[in-house]
Amino acid sequence: MDLFSKCFDFTRADEIKALGVYPYFRAIQENEGPIVQIEGKKIIMAGSNNYLGLTAHPKVVEAAIKAVEKYGTGCSGSRYLTGTLDLHIELEERLAKFFKAESVLLFSTGYQTAQGVIPTLVGRNEYIISDKDNHACIIAGNLMAKGAMGNFVRYKHNDMDDLERVIEKVPKDAAKLIVSDGVFSTGGEIVDLPRLNEVAKRFNARIMIDDAHSVGVIGKGGRGTASEFNLEKEIDLTMGTFSKTFGSLGGFVAGPERVINFIKHYSLALIFSASPTPASVATALAALDILEQEPERVQKLISNASYMRENLKKKGFNVIEGRTAIVPVIVGNDELAFKMWRFLYDSGVFVNVFISPGVPEGRQMMRTSYMATHKKEHLDEILHLFEKAGKSIGLI
Ligand SMILES: Cc1ncc(COP(=O)(O)O)c(C=O)c1O
Repeated sequence: MDLFSKCFDFTRADEIKALGVYPYFRAIQENEGPIVQIEGKKIIMAGSNNYLGLTAHPKVVEAAIKAVEKYGTGCSGSRYLTGTLDLHIELEERLAKFFKAESVLLFSTGYQTAQGVIPTLVGRNEYIISDKDNHACIIAGNLMAKGAMGNFVRYKHNDMDDLERVIEKVPKDAAKLIVSDGVFSTGGEIVDLPRLNEVAKRFNARIMIDDAHSVGVIGKGGRGTASEFNLEKEIDLTMGTFSKTFGSLGGFVAGPERVINFIKHYSLALIFSASPTPASVATALAALDILEQEPERVQKLISNASYMRENLKKKGFNVIEGRTAIVPVIVGNDELAFKMWRFLYDSGVFVNVFISPGVPEGRQMMRTSYMATHKKEHLDEILHLFEKAGKSIGLI
């Protein structure tokens, strides 16, 4: 059997392309935040994770340019060796203060952060207890830990009774890490952190929260999930990304100094990969300045998302409830999802389409997400186009 035969047999994407409804890998030619240009046409972006709209902020752009002028375009080495700039250390210290953590360590992406933290901490005869709907990077980290003889068990999505049932079966004396997204990336729900923390303490487990979609969105001044529930002292490790609120690229983990020090010296994803570029780090630093100085941006983001959630519901759409920047509209099957996406795209709004098996059958959705920089006219236009699209495909 040829290794590549599955590649030659994979035709689903070509079939969808032939129908003219393929929504992926669309090239953006210009990006101002709420408005982007694709195929020469201006279109409203309602699918980005650029939550505070900072990718085009003049101070952020200027910081990136100045960093390139001063440090060049890349670090050409890992943090361990030649890739540490004073900028990396400054950002780590600033983030530690922001999250009230003892220490922070940067990684080159959020994905790499999970892969770099989980298998470094969890090994032979130790256990990861993971939400079933955690992000793919956590699953990748869990599988790497499993490959190193660690154990990986899952509980039902955000179901703390099930977490308790699962953890009860783990040997009492085994070291344990409970891992969960803070805000789940598909449905936008917030983890039930008070109960998760209570179970963790009762079973002597450590907690790691992935705050990729929480920073800049929930918590005091956008400080994320632990802050949202006043549980900063209880959460052992918080990881996150610079690819969303921070308008950049890179990841981080915040936690106790001795643990971060250990990760720093044992994490393969850190030691054997080049450090974040000067422009990426300077961008994240400038974005952090803005987040600290203008917390009203977080309020604006949440009020924009709430406005959309309420009004999409009023128009008759099946919207997953929540209070984050993610507003998923359930469509219910792959064909309708592609049709609805195409209608929206042609009429001037870009959303993300989630189909099976990425989401369970019946949960196919238009995953919309909002920015602090969306104006009311953008939001009203999105609502108007959703109504037209929903009626045209018979969804509402
Ligand atoms: C929950 C979650 N964690 C981690 C990541 C990965 O972040 P990055 O884009 O920095 O690799 C993402 C990005 O989609 C995410 O949604």
